[in-house]
Amino acid sequence: MKIVAILGSPRSKSNSTALARKIVERAGTLGAETQEFALNKLQFKGCQACETCKTKLDHCVLRDDLTPILEAVKEADAIIMASPNYFGEVSGQFKSFFDRTYSLLNPDFSSRLKPGKSSVFIFAQGQPNLNLYADVHPRYEIWLNRYGFAHNYLLRMNGPRPADSVAQRPDLITQAEEIANNLMSPSIEPRADKF
Ligand SMILES: Cc1cc2nc3c(=O)[nH]c(=O)nc-3n(C[C@H](O)[C@H](O)[C@H](O)COP(=O)(O)O)c2cc1C
Repeated sequence: MKIVAILGSPRSKSNSTALARKIVERAGTLGAETQEFALNKLQFKGCQACETCKTKLDHCVLRDDLTPILEAVKEADAIIMASPNYFGEVSGQFKSFFDRTYSLLNPDFSSRLKPGKSSVFIFAQGQPNLNLYADVHPRYEIWLNRYGFAHNYLLRMNGPRPADSVAQRPDLITQAEEIANNLMSPSIEPRADKF
């Protein structure tokens, strides 16, 4: 089982990163091979809309620090995507990564990924009210489904805004560990709605 974690927060003690690491650590103890990429430390461009991945190549024409991440996504059984909520959306770093996954679609918009992978979307917001921003994951899930992901887990952290707050949320740590258990036992039905 190969798990790739893509971290979209620039904060060194980020809450979304901490939750991603809880899943990675747990899955690692259960035997997963894990890899982590902190987007804010990398040099890369957003999608240039050149359409080369649809007309001439089966991959992105840009060669930069996202190149190995897009390759790792192809190889992975599960990807963990963690982002803070910035103005009701994912961070710019994460959005630029996600735009580049356009290169994982064929010209007819079918997926270039092997079907059946799992995804985990971790979304940390300052607002305590989870009804706010409930629209964000479903919009990304439309594309995750198109990419062929079979199980899409969601883990949301609501308030407080300070970094390093995950230790005060044992409920979320438990949910992260349950998600890791599910990733490592793909026969268990996904329970994205539970989180
Ligand atoms: C530029 C910026 C915009 C933000 N916008 C929102 C927002 O619209 N709604 C919200 O609930 N929290 C917002 N926040 C708070 C963060 O989502 C919150 O601190 C979150 O825990 C950050 O995740 P991280 O710890 O993984 O970096 C914003 C923070 C920043 C820096």
